[in-house]
Order: sequence, then structure tokens, then C-alpha cells
Amino acid sequence: MVSINRVPTGIANLDKRLQGGYPEGEAVLITGEPGTGKTIFGIQFLYSACTDGRKCLMIATEEVPEKILNHAKILGFDLGPYIENQQLSIMHLLEMRAADSGVHSGAECMDIRIDDLNNFSHMIADDIEVVVIDNMGTCSIGMELKAFRDKLEAFLYLLSKQQRTSIIIMDETAHEYTHRIAEYSTYGTIRLMVKENPYTGKIERFMYIPKMRGTRILLDLINYDITDEGITLLAAQGKKDKPDR
Ligand SMILES: Nc1ncnc2c1ncn2[C@@H]1O[C@H](COP(=O)(O)OP(=O)(O)O)[C@@H](O)[C@H]1O
Ligand SMILES: [Mg+2]
Repeated sequence: MVSINRVPTGIANLDKRLQGGYPEGEAVLITGEPGTGKTIFGIQFLYSACTDGRKCLMIATEEVPEKILNHAKILGFDLGPYIENQQLSIMHLLEMRAADSGVHSGAECMDIRIDDLNNFSHMIADDIEVVVIDNMGTCSIGMELKAFRDKLEAFLYLLSKQQRTSIIIMDETAHEYTHRIAEYSTYGTIRLMVKENPYTGKIERFMYIPKMRGTRILLDLINYDITDEGITLLAAQGKKDKPDR
């Protein structure tokens, strides 16, 4: 069997579950309600990829780069040095669009479409290996379902053809609104959620991996926590998962 190269996720123990990390050159969808840790997922992936010497790009539709960098630094993932040495770039779609059209403010700039991403994907430098998009949901607002699906598929096709290992973050509201079709087009999906733990009776964080092509996955709910060190996987009933090494 041909084995798939992996890119570490930056989350201890998730790599172990994914046989080493995200499948190289493919796109994985991360979905969840606000506050489930989607942006932190992206930050940890970028930090890990940067420390491994990979060239990375984050496309942000909501938070401006300064906020993302601050958020990362507070959690102990200082991306600043990688911005300085140009290993990482963060592009804010709204700012780029405003600059492109010569418009610097105004309501029409809020209308970020996946067309913007598609136009932009042709300009991503060849040496970018890792791409994080936070949040694709913004690009689906007000779009017809078929148009969104077609454009998302075109975008993902290009990313995969260009061999970028990518994380596509999608907020739960937009994901529901688009009938969860993004799950059909991506190579894998990780759903982040908050629900009652039947063992403890407490509301806790769980992730579920319904799909990861080329990867043997267990279909269990994985308990996780967000701490000062970012996302940590827990073993059943709140104990830390056994360390990787
Ligand atoms: N140092 C920390 N300790 C505990 N939880 C944290 C810490 N930093 C962030 N969080 C949690 O992470 C959440 C934000 O994660 P984020 O990735 O921005 O969510 P999303 O992008 O899914 O909206 C916060 O609501 C908070 O619960
Ligand atoms: Mg976020």
C-alpha cells in the first residue's frame, strides 16, 4: 500500500490518532460553534509547521493579523519570529479586497465572496506548503448553494493540485446554512463541539473525526480541553491522554 506523508497538526496526541498528522497536500475541514477552538487549531498547525521549517500562509476573513498573532502569543505560540523571517504570512481578505478595489471602507467590503479566494489562490507563491483559512463560512454568506459548492470545489482542487496541506475552518452556522456540503469536498473533517459528558454530567469539549481519507480512524468522541498551552486531548473521564513519546 502506498503510504501517505503526514504533516503534524501541532496538537500532541492528535497526531498519534491521525497516524502522524494531516495528510500532506490535502485539505481538512474544521467545523464548530464559536469558542470551540477552531482558530487555535489553525494557530497550533501554523506554529508546528513553521517550527518544522515549512512556509505557511494564513488567510483570515474575520480577525486582523495583529489579533491573531496576539491570540497565538498568549497561548505560548509566538508566531512573530516567523512573520519576521517571512516564513509565515497572514493575509486579511477584507484588507486585501479594500486595497485591490481602491476602496478603504464601506459596506460592500463586508461582502467577501469565495470568488475573492479563487482569484487570490492563483497568486499564492509556489513555495507555500501550508495554508490555513479562517473562516470559509464568511465566504458563503448570501450565496446560492450550488454556486458555493462549485466555487469551493474549484478552490480545493487548486489547493490540492498545488500540493498545499490546508485547514479550512468553517463556522457551524455557515456550515449548517450550506447543508454541510463542504464535508463532501474536503479530504477529511474534524468537528469540534461542546456537549454533556455522560460520565461526569458536565458540559465538556469533544472532537469527532467522521472522515479522514487514507487514515484509520476511531469513531469515538475525543474529549479535549483548551488550557494556557492550547488544545490538549484528554483520555476518557478527564485524564490526560498518554504522552506521545
Ligand atoms: N488560556 C486559555 N485557557 C483556557 N481556555 C482558553 C484559553 N485561551 C482560549 N481559551 C478558550 O478558547 C476559546 C477561543 O478559541 P478560538 O479558537 O478563538 O475559538 P473559535 O475560533 O472556534 O471561535 C475561548 O472561548 C476559550 O474558551
Ligand atoms: Mg475563530
